[in-house]
Amino acid sequence: MPAISRQTIEEVRSRMDILDVVSDFVSLKRAGNQYKALSPFTNEKTPSFYVVPSKGIFKDFSSGKGGDAITFVMEHEGMSYPEAIRYLAKKYGIEIKEEAGTLTDETTQERESLFIVMNFAKNYFHDLLFRHEEGIAVGLSYFRERGFTDTTIEKFELGYSLDAWNHFEEHALKNGFSREILEKAGLIVPREGKSGYDRFRGRVIFPVHNLSGKVIAFGARILKQDADKQQPKYINSPETEIYKKSQVLYGLFQARNEIRKQDFCYLVEGYTDVLSLHQAGIENVVASSGTALTEEQIRLIRRFTNNITVLFDGDEAGVRAALRGIDMILRGDLNVRVVLLPDGEDPDSFARKNSTTVLRQFLSENSQDFITFKVNLYREEAQRDPIKKAQAIREIVTSIAVMPDPVKRSVYIKETCRHLDVSENVLLTELNKILIQERRKKQERLAEPEVEPVPSVAVSDTFIERTQALAIQQLQERETIRLLVNYAEAQYEDEYGKHQVKENILQEIEGVTFSNPLYREIIELYRKAAETDEAIDSYYLLNNGSEEVKKLVAELLTVRYSISTHWRDKYHIYIPHESEELSGVTLKNILSLKFWLLQEMIESNITAWKKTETEKPHDLVAIDTYMTVHDQLKLAQREIADALGIVVQR
Ligand code: UTP
Ligand code: MN
Repeated sequence: MPAISRQTIEEVRSRMDILDVVSDFVSLKRAGNQYKALSPFTNEKTPSFYVVPSKGIFKDFSSGKGGDAITFVMEHEGMSYPEAIRYLAKKYGIEIKEEAGTLTDETTQERESLFIVMNFAKNYFHDLLFRHEEGIAVGLSYFRERGFTDTTIEKFELGYSLDAWNHFEEHALKNGFSREILEKAGLIVPREGKSGYDRFRGRVIFPVHNLSGKVIAFGARILKQDADKQQPKYINSPETEIYKKSQVLYGLFQARNEIRKQDFCYLVEGYTDVLSLHQAGIENVVASSGTALTEEQIRLIRRFTNNITVLFDGDEAGVRAALRGIDMILRGDLNVRVVLLPDGEDPDSFARKNSTTVLRQFLSENSQDFITFKVNLYREEAQRDPIKKAQAIREIVTSIAVMPDPVKRSVYIKETCRHLDVSENVLLTELNKILIQERRKKQERLAEPEVEPVPSVAVSDTFIERTQALAIQQLQERETIRLLVNYAEAQYEDEYGKHQVKENILQEIEGVTFSNPLYREIIELYRKAAETDEAIDSYYLLNNGSEEVKKLVAELLTVRYSISTHWRDKYHIYIPHESEELSGVTLKNILSLKFWLLQEMIESNITAWKKTETEKPHDLVAIDTYMTVHDQLKLAQREIADALGIVVQR
């Protein structure tokens, strides 16, 4: 497979301009030497998307995405690395030179090979449907029996996999594909010592496309539900480098334009539901493919519209599924409507039984706002029983509480008032109760360090302090990394001569283990570079770090991490001002970091100490050790505190 030459990539890298690239998709406003906009990745109300031209980076605080212009194109357009390079090359009129050799990194290359083999498999399955005796007799006639036209079959590139052990495997091997890639793509299932077998044999095939129309997975339906064999109705591709189930919606590729045009999207459960609705002329439809809707899937839809209509069976399971989906969609700040089909019908069967006119009429007449839907669900019971009514109120208000937009919340509260005949005050009180609970839960989550979970400790007040100590330590770690990333190559002078910030920091944190693995990764990169005397700046990290590191670096380069002044005053987190002398800045920061590391050690020592005192009060040796350790830690901490001018209590 030809790959883009290194030279081309270098040229793209040197020519690309983040401001210019992002401006093609986002309208930016200047804010000092940065640029700001509403996030193109989420549906936020206050801008938290930044571009820093001087550093060549963007950072989106609401979604956490960040990186250089290439990363931006990849994220925004859903492109792979080479696709993004090609896009940028075209934009800047750079000629793309190909080379036979390897691409920039292994995953990129693997993704490309997976796309190629999946496309090959799709064509193979599809051709069988029209050209092979068994394909026609079994596969094609199955689709025809279900009423799917050739147009539908072509549009969705449906196919058939022969009822043979490894017909596909052999065909693919003959065409130069390795067994390894077939296996990686999930197309064959390996058997020990023997050749593999085709995963989807004897089934009709539904290819799953990504947003640019490439096949990334297959769903394969059994022809007859054979009860005694207990085969699953569908066999789906396993997750691969190019297929992450939770991030894909079936039919979105075929539906995207119509969703934009209609400004809403029907959500159904199955492959065949999508097909039948398309055939009936309703093309703005996607399927969650039988799994519970995910946040990522909702974000995907939001790129095309803010309005979802959930289409489910009128039976109990359907109602439950609809309810689950609703809160998820509301949480994503989308508007949701619900259509319940007559009991026992799914969109596929309903669309086939009725004419397009009847179908359209049914959908528009029976589409209700989620509030109406929920109220109707409980209304009858609620009218008779005050307890049921309280439950109904709670149910509805819970859904309203997940909406991120306060304006929308108040509109829906009013709506609920009207429907349920309760005062607005009652609803608002209920809403606030839930919101406060939610906020508390959120704060608890935030107080916990991001990476390593806090071990739960029996003594509750110690727990809180410990949690805080850990959180503060993390902030301090982050400050250290921020200094390193921003000023690694900077120099400063003191009475002992010239120093590099990098050197100073690396020396000082020798032996300190950062709790965040990303920070450790960055430090490791710096240490390696230091050994070979190589200069390493933020650009190096952006080009060589993992995606996670890139994101973090972008964030650290963009805006100062803000710590509330309350915390700063109370806990003496040292937030350096860059204008200060760097020597003092780095030293103070590192001392501060060590202070909080010691604090953490002290807290955990106390916990263990207390535990021993209650559980093994006679183990005097152990208790004595805890006390000695405590004194030593305290002493070390006090020394640092003196240097920093902190007063230590206890
Ligand atoms: P359904 O059982 O409703 O299937 O599952 P369907 O698509 O309506 O198929 P027909 O009409 O019976 O032919 C809904 C979706 O759940 C997933 C599939 O994505 C299916 O489209 N599913 C279902 C599986 O992945 N595996 C299964 O075994 C069953
Ligand atoms: Mn069905």
